[in-house]
Amino acid sequence: MKKEKKLPPEFVEELSRVTSQAYIAWKKAKQTNNFKLFEPHLKKVIDLKRKEAKLRGIPGHPYNSLLDCYEEGMRVEKLKKTFDYLKKELVPLIRSIQATKTYKEQDRIIPPRNVPKQVQEEIGKFISQKLGLKLGKESRLDETEHPFTSTLGIKDTRITTNYKEGFPESFFSTIHETGHALYSLGVPAEYGYTVVGEGSSLGMHESQSRFYENVIGRNPVFWEFMLPHLKKYKELKKYSLKEWQLLANKVRPSFIRVQADEVTYNLHVIIRFELELALLEGKLEAKDLPRAWNQKVKEYLGITPKTNKEGVLQDVHWSLGLIGYFPTYALGNIYSAQLYNEMLKDNPDIISEMRKGKFDSILNWLTKKVYVYGRTITTEEIIKNACGRGLDPKAFINYLREKYSKIYWF
Ligand code: CO
Repeated sequence: MKKEKKLPPEFVEELSRVTSQAYIAWKKAKQTNNFKLFEPHLKKVIDLKRKEAKLRGIPGHPYNSLLDCYEEGMRVEKLKKTFDYLKKELVPLIRSIQATKTYKEQDRIIPPRNVPKQVQEEIGKFISQKLGLKLGKESRLDETEHPFTSTLGIKDTRITTNYKEGFPESFFSTIHETGHALYSLGVPAEYGYTVVGEGSSLGMHESQSRFYENVIGRNPVFWEFMLPHLKKYKELKKYSLKEWQLLANKVRPSFIRVQADEVTYNLHVIIRFELELALLEGKLEAKDLPRAWNQKVKEYLGITPKTNKEGVLQDVHWSLGLIGYFPTYALGNIYSAQLYNEMLKDNPDIISEMRKGKFDSILNWLTKKVYVYGRTITTEEIIKNACGRGLDPKAFINYLREKYSKIYWF
């Protein structure tokens, strides 16, 4: 609240007017694949964000002031160092995966299509509850177009999911939202309705959703537990354990961030981060953005978008003025791997428990190390207390290497 006071009402009003128009223009631009429609609006948004950075006045790079709104205490220098390290490690890691026989033959496994909604809902509810969400008591699961989690009161956090034709897309989005909900529900009730009664930051919240979605839900061992349950459904019973493990972890450089796999995902974030910096610094103009975007996608992911719709226009964030937001997604991935690493050290049995479909030690550990704090201390402090050190991208790279070298045999 203190932060918002730094912005004069006229500024807030102008930003809200400009971003509502920018949002409409972005929607149209995306629909018609015409960046020109969005360009003048984006230019205005960036000018206002530069102004906002000045008003907020955090020292150093103007991006610091924007970043701090979503990830308190995080700074550009630290992110740059973190992201440069990730880039240096991820690009060759993707190459090694692409060179394998498994990668070249992975498309032979066709994921299940036309899986009825009721089947997906049943499996979604089953897994949410197994992971610890008390559906019907503290939570419920409903259907929506864009999945989200919302807290309506103390011990009342609800999740939504969407049911696509295929499996396991919606399965993972249900697990993702389950992770968000478990975090919100795990914050002590006595903090309810206060400023500390929520997750410590967006990055931390995303670390919990991704922990459940990726670290647990895509864990090869987790599928050993899921296999007999999936065998009950005629649409799913023909798949073997190996096939599920590969389907859940299929790596392939792609254009769309929200559909990206665990290995390539952070490169999508790094592309946006670098472009945001260049735009704020005035080194890049809005009109040159599509070209700059495509160049980076080519350089980091080895592919070139054919349209702006699958390139620079894909995300809604910039139209809403959300500059400095994307890094929280990558931070979530890194924190989730750090926490997993520590959890395994404290309790190696969680692997064999996961195989049996027991997830309570995992939830207890997260509750003790993360949820109990709510927002009383910063994310950096929570991570330091839990892992002995702050943000550490090495833990994430080690996690990926160890996991994917087994899945792709390299
Ligand atoms: Co999320």
